[in-house]
Amino acid sequence: MKVCLVTGGMGFIGCNFIRFLLETNEEIRIINVDKLTYAGNPENLKDIDKTYDFSYKFYKADICDFDFIDKLVRKETVNFIINFAAESHVDRSIDNPSICCDTNIFGAQTLLNVARKNKIEKFLQISTDEVYGSLGFEDPAFTEITSLSPNSPYSASKASADLLVRAYYKTFDLPINITRSSNNYGPYQFPEKLIPLMIHNALNDKPLPVYGEGINIRDWIHVKDNCEAILQVLNYGKIGEIYNIGGDSELQNIDLVKKILKILDKPDSLITFVKDRPGHDLRYAINHEKITNTLNWEPKISFDKGLELTIKWYLDNQNWLDNVISKEYLKYYEKLYGNR
Ligand code: NAD
Ligand code: TYD
Repeated sequence: MKVCLVTGGMGFIGCNFIRFLLETNEEIRIINVDKLTYAGNPENLKDIDKTYDFSYKFYKADICDFDFIDKLVRKETVNFIINFAAESHVDRSIDNPSICCDTNIFGAQTLLNVARKNKIEKFLQISTDEVYGSLGFEDPAFTEITSLSPNSPYSASKASADLLVRAYYKTFDLPINITRSSNNYGPYQFPEKLIPLMIHNALNDKPLPVYGEGINIRDWIHVKDNCEAILQVLNYGKIGEIYNIGGDSELQNIDLVKKILKILDKPDSLITFVKDRPGHDLRYAINHEKITNTLNWEPKISFDKGLELTIKWYLDNQNWLDNVISKEYLKYYEKLYGNR
């Protein structure tokens, strides 16, 4: 039986990945390490804790703590490390650029040191399409050889980590892969990100703050499709390679927000155009031919179906949504949107 250390497993993608892995693969033990920042929520895996006594274990810890992680990796005889842990929000990184450097850069490097020391079988870094920067409306989509050109403190920190991961492969022969996916959506996403924020505000008849003119384009992938791709890369990814993971669903923000309002039967008049994000990337688009052709993966969930499922999940789990909106989050929301 293999043992997989998942970092950031109480966050959005991490918790979906742990659920997915436990449901599909009986031959694996999962060790989840999470610092439980505002974005890490133990509620996300409450039922898993009880159901999978032997194959799942949680430790509250910081990935920057070398001694703790090093000891843990030996104690639990870890074979793989998958690093999801991050400060993942662009707006927070603009508000305070330092927050993402510790975890996203130093934390990743700490894990690389642990992986190297303990001869880990594979180190999988979960990265993002944002490291490539921004596209014009007519530009071809990002491939794995598009040069890195990050524009926000968040994407710059993720690009830095990618370069360190590459360097540990080239210099120390550390067996690595990197995945770069487009914008994920689905259950358990913290309502500071576009889709859950808009669902929450629409449900409460609050204004939906669309940045600028709402013309920016993102490619959206359902989190389950991303989890399948990550597992393919973990099992079959060629050592040293980077894989782009895309959803084939490019949408302008304004069109996406209107879709949410339509499904919830709420009026477009809730839309409020607010001051644009500084350095706002115009468009992301992913070319995922490499993973499709070499690892036989492609996205299965259409955006319309995925959005419907996601909205249904938030409707069925309004307690979850209300609980994560803490006092601290409300202060952040007021600070970010209050003067826009
Ligand atoms: P998230 O913010 O929902 O979760 C991040 C998790 O990391 C939280 O549980 C948090 O407590 C934990 N964490 C933060 N700092 C930590 C530290 N120092 N030590 C241990 N744990 C720590 O993020 P997400 O949306 O689930 O993203 C997961 C990963 O995927 C990130 O690396 C992100 O860059 C990448 N990614 C996200 C998206 C997206 O659309 N959400 C797209 C592409 C890539
Ligand atoms: P977000 O979910 O923050 O992801 P990212 O910035 O990593 O792509 O934002 C997605 C898009 O939605 C992005 O173009 C910014 C825009 N946006 C808004 O218009 N209003 C909002 O309140 C938020 C959070 C995002």
